[in-house]
Amino acid sequence: MLQSFKNSDINFEKIDGKNPYFYVINALPSLRMKILDIACGREHKYQILSRELAKHHSVTGIDIECKSGGNNPKFIRASVEDFETKEKFDAVVSTYFFGYVTHDWATYGLNHTAKDYEVRIMKKIHGLLKPDGLSVHYMNEPWTLTVSDLESLGFVVLKFPNPVDLFRVEDGLCVLKKR
Ligand SMILES: C[S@@+](CC[C@H](N)C(=O)[O-])C[C@H]1O[C@@H](n2cnc3c(N)ncnc32)[C@H](O)[C@@H]1O
Repeated sequence: MLQSFKNSDINFEKIDGKNPYFYVINALPSLRMKILDIACGREHKYQILSRELAKHHSVTGIDIECKSGGNNPKFIRASVEDFETKEKFDAVVSTYFFGYVTHDWATYGLNHTAKDYEVRIMKKIHGLLKPDGLSVHYMNEPWTLTVSDLESLGFVVLKFPNPVDLFRVEDGLCVLKKR
């Protein structure tokens, strides 16, 4: 647990008095890790997770709308699906990407389903992780993937978001480990 991180450190909209970033950060071990934040936000005020994680970890944030630059966090303008690197990460994280983006944006007018897209992204994440790497995602809208989908994609499911009840922030948290 990251003891020094406090919910009050974040000046951002809170849901039910709790903050989704806090749950993602607390799901990670305090050991310094190499972390990739996917769909990290287009500008400083949205890049909360990358910036908070960089206080304890080495962080790369990617987003189709952000400017590339910085050191830690380092930001790269790239789409999750096309992102290529030789690096492998201890953890790949996201907030408000799965569910919200993968349903409402990614599939709009495109010739694929939300499920095809989410499978493609999870395969990508699997390839970006080191063995035993963690994949932690906060969503406030349900995604299409099931526990058995994730297991067949090579993950151990440690926490799964309840698709019918995402009212409590902690219910939106998904924690996976690369098998
Ligand atoms: C709701 S915002 C979430 C931003 C940030 N993670 C946060 O918690 O505030 C969704 C972000 O997904 C980015 N995005 C959408 N599709 C993407 C893709 N295919 N690859 C990378 N980023 C994407 C958008 O540019 C936007 O910044």
